[in-house]
Amino acid sequence: MNKFPNKIFGIVQEDIKAVEKELYSIIQSPVDLVNDISVHLVQAGGKRLRPALFLLCARGGNPNQSELLPMAVALELIHMATLVHDDVIDNAATRRGRPTANARWGNHSSVLTGDYLWAKAFSAIAVGTKQNMLKILTDVISNMCEGEIVQLREAFNADQDEADYRLRVAQKTADFIAASCEIGALYGGLDERDVVQVREYGYAIGMAFQITDDILDITASAEQLGKPVGNDLRQGIVTLPAIYALKTSPCRDELRNIVVNQNMSDEEVSRGLEILHETGAVEYSYAQVNNYLQHARNSLPKTLNGPVRQALIAVTDFVGLRKY
Ligand code: IPE
Ligand code: IPE
Ligand code: MG
Ligand code: MG
Repeated sequence: MNKFPNKIFGIVQEDIKAVEKELYSIIQSPVDLVNDISVHLVQAGGKRLRPALFLLCARGGNPNQSELLPMAVALELIHMATLVHDDVIDNAATRRGRPTANARWGNHSSVLTGDYLWAKAFSAIAVGTKQNMLKILTDVISNMCEGEIVQLREAFNADQDEADYRLRVAQKTADFIAASCEIGALYGGLDERDVVQVREYGYAIGMAFQITDDILDITASAEQLGKPVGNDLRQGIVTLPAIYALKTSPCRDELRNIVVNQNMSDEEVSRGLEILHETGAVEYSYAQVNNYLQHARNSLPKTLNGPVRQALIAVTDFVGLRKY
């Protein structure tokens, strides 16, 4: 339920299976607890979007096949580490339809397991990876930390605007997806102009992806999403739909009082969500998603071969339609 249908990844479906297998092997630890938590995380699945985009962009050129797997695995490990830490920060109980590591093993073990996964990611690519790629990845991680810290600092602040939000989304999510595509294009040996275009594609997909995630927090059911809903509002995370409604809703004063309340009751969360729905905040946010997706499609270099282009377009379609 928490996976993209494999077929949208087209020609890299088999590679993704190899990534799954390698993930299990690389996280092996003689320490039971580390092993248990890591296996729990890999087993929970996930869309594997970042390695799939990396592999597709690499296949847009002529990569050295044997070099692809370690980087694809590293990208998913980095992603998993951020999710483990994010769930500690968000105090989330479920992820990918299962109890989070923090719910099951507590915050201390989860933080350390996240660190363990970072280390394993860089261990996978320590040999043979060019320094500029390591720099791209480390910049992604420091950006992500900055984005999450700013988000924490601004929690329960009703005076954020769309520019603040976009910067945060870029740092948290879009930069990583952009980097996954860019590194793929570099592995494929695409020419400089096409690398820039592919990165732009990834960035736009990433923005659309996180805005969709923020919409689903309001519209989806917990069963569909595999993680709790209404959590952003409850945690004081002010996302695009809320920013829009705080500006335009006839009930904006009431909404403001809810958004800034650090001890929101369930009724207040429900009322807040109701106001967002009534204001058309969901439609407004989806319009932005669609703009980003259109930009992503337009950014694809003309030189990409048919099957790669087709799969990259299928990903844009899916991001706009996803319900989980
Ligand atoms: C979740 O990422 C965090 C966001 C950036 C919104 P994904 O939605 O890719 O998570 P999984 O890997 O499929 O669980
Ligand atoms: C995305 O943040 C996680 C990171 C990019 C670190 P969210 O908090 O919005 O993601 P979910 O909703 O928990 O998946
Ligand atoms: Mg979260
Ligand atoms: Mg979060």
